[in-house]
Amino acid sequence: MKKICPGEEETMKIAIGNDHTAVEMKRAVADFLCEKGYEVLNLGTDAEESCDYPVYGEKVGRAVVSGEADLGIAICGTGLGISLAANKVKGVRACVCSEPYTAVMSRRHNNANVLCFGARVVGIEMAKMIVEQWLEAEFEGGRHQRRVDMIMDIETRDN
Ligand code: RB5
Repeated sequence: MKKICPGEEETMKIAIGNDHTAVEMKRAVADFLCEKGYEVLNLGTDAEESCDYPVYGEKVGRAVVSGEADLGIAICGTGLGISLAANKVKGVRACVCSEPYTAVMSRRHNNANVLCFGARVVGIEMAKMIVEQWLEAEFEGGRHQRRVDMIMDIETRDN
């Protein structure tokens, strides 16, 4: 795992993963996070050659669930494929957010632990705003905890 900017012991660690569509976006978001004082773990590709987004969605999901990272950010062309992959890792709650309101609510009500968006959908400045507000929002608990528990219970049932 490549650290883009190592932080202090208590610094919040953000795992970031991306496919080939989001190399420039990943760099911009990672630089933004470093400026804000987060530690960034780069789990994405840095090459422009076509690659497979499920690899990176899974990597981000596993980093978050294992505790290597506190939260994750996963970016592909739309945010969709990489979120589907991340959500297959038990314990992940990945949400695609193309604007700040949904991003904030995904933390407050859904306790999202992986933020996804599309590098072909949002511009870099919008992405920074989404990321900043997502990281600053807090889970409200209460009735939302019960509902999140219900979502996570689905993982424990056989189909
Ligand atoms: C790659 O062309 C594209 O399919 C991928 O980045 C993503 O948008 C998939 O959901």
